[in-house]
Amino acid sequence: MTPESVNYSFVRFAEQSFYRQVNQALVNSCAIKPGQHIVDLACGTGAVTQLILQKLQGMRESLVIAIDSSAEALQQARAKLAEARNQMVKLVQGQAEQLSGLVRERVDAVILCNAIHMMAQKEEIAAEALRILRPGGVFAFNTTFFAGAQPEETAIFYRRWMYRAIRTLRSRYQLMPDKAAKVESRRQLSSTEYVELLHSQGFTLREELIKPVAVPLEGWLGISQFQDFIAGALPGVPLEAGRQALQQAVTQVFAELKLQFVPRNWLFIVAARP
Ligand SMILES: C[S@@+](CC[C@H](N)C(=O)[O-])C[C@H]1O[C@@H](n2cnc3c(N)ncnc32)[C@H](O)[C@@H]1O
Repeated sequence: MTPESVNYSFVRFAEQSFYRQVNQALVNSCAIKPGQHIVDLACGTGAVTQLILQKLQGMRESLVIAIDSSAEALQQARAKLAEARNQMVKLVQGQAEQLSGLVRERVDAVILCNAIHMMAQKEEIAAEALRILRPGGVFAFNTTFFAGAQPEETAIFYRRWMYRAIRTLRSRYQLMPDKAAKVESRRQLSSTEYVELLHSQGFTLREELIKPVAVPLEGWLGISQFQDFIAGALPGVPLEAGRQALQQAVTQVFAELKLQFVPRNWLFIVAARP
């Protein structure tokens, strides 16, 4: 892969089957029915939007409002969703923190996959979701960046991966991460803290689940070229140098430790508007 042809989006990670399964599990737990109106919040490149559309079974009254702050991600989502009937998907660029300003109707569910950890104003986002949900509607999210995501026995993998990536950055690019540029995803809430946050905003908890997921090398290679991950793991480092350092390091560590996959926990939470 030449640097010019690298795509720093989430697509390579989002295309993997284990990833599809964790999102399918969350979408399943929302009990979506044909005809409903659903918000796919932080829709990214549209992988979850497709799963929601399948549940809506093409019924004319159905609607997915897919929102993301990134114009680039929405452009990729638009291409991916081109086959879906136009009137069923509305793509909107905007911030989750301003959800009630973007969605002017009551919806049946707000689904937020793999993004809540990136958001600083979590209380505000939960409050905004509550504002646009009909009574009984659900706010569902999943994340693998929470306190408890890394099983203890995997500590050696992360230590070696980051150590090797930083060594490559220093020796090949004379670069070091900038600790002062730390991003929000580094501040991780526990499952209990998320539940308390939802209660404090007036939600009723429907489901709280932590599931182990086996992530193969291809998953780590995919996440290593996602711009937001590079910015979180190696703050302040240019994307191409960060990608190369992370991908080379993770490939080496998989070989050294003779790994087939690294287990990672995913948190799933579903809450309802009373
Ligand atoms: C890791 S991707 C997840 C995409 C998709 N939900 C999935 O699971 O495949 C996170 C997405 O969240 C978006 N995002 C981050 N902060 C946001 C915010 N405050 N408001 C809206 N979108 C946001 C990013 O642009 C990115 O596309």
